[in-house]
Amino acid sequence: MTRIPIRIIPDPVLRQKASPVTKVDKRVSKFMNDMLESMYLGHGIGLAANQVGALERVITVDISEERNGTKALLMANPEITWKSENETFTYREGCLSIPEQYAEITRPKRIRLNYLDQSGKERELEAEDLLSQCIQHEIDHLNGILFIDYLSPLKRKMMARKVEKAQREKDDDDHIL
Ligand code: NI
Repeated sequence: MTRIPIRIIPDPVLRQKASPVTKVDKRVSKFMNDMLESMYLGHGIGLAANQVGALERVITVDISEERNGTKALLMANPEITWKSENETFTYREGCLSIPEQYAEITRPKRIRLNYLDQSGKERELEAEDLLSQCIQHEIDHLNGILFIDYLSPLKRKMMARKVEKAQREKDDDDHIL
């Protein structure tokens, strides 16, 4: 497995829409493994292909304690077919592409979705609470949407500025020998 660097805002790839995968072949299957590895190394519970610079509809999710791949969900072309209209769930979300920023986000509590698994088989899944929240966050990424988009423009700008400042300082540090 190969670790792929994670893109940070304001990288434009995070604002682009990813295209469907035509077939889960060997390449896509390996890409899923590489994404999972990158997600674990970044201590994330979810990752979308845009975040590693690929505009393909692929996400990885693992909310388990083990985090060893046995309970990971590797999905191509995830598509939500149903959302609970009245029941919602609120969680303090973060994102590997928006380091060290968190905000409480409310989303539908339960969802149903279709996707292709790592062997290309069509699957249906019903998810609730944290798993549902995480999958919705990752599918948003595939559509160029970030969790900060659900905040007020002021709060969103504040967070973006903090991240950009931290990244600049990090870049400066990189040049010190
Ligand atoms: Ni994210």
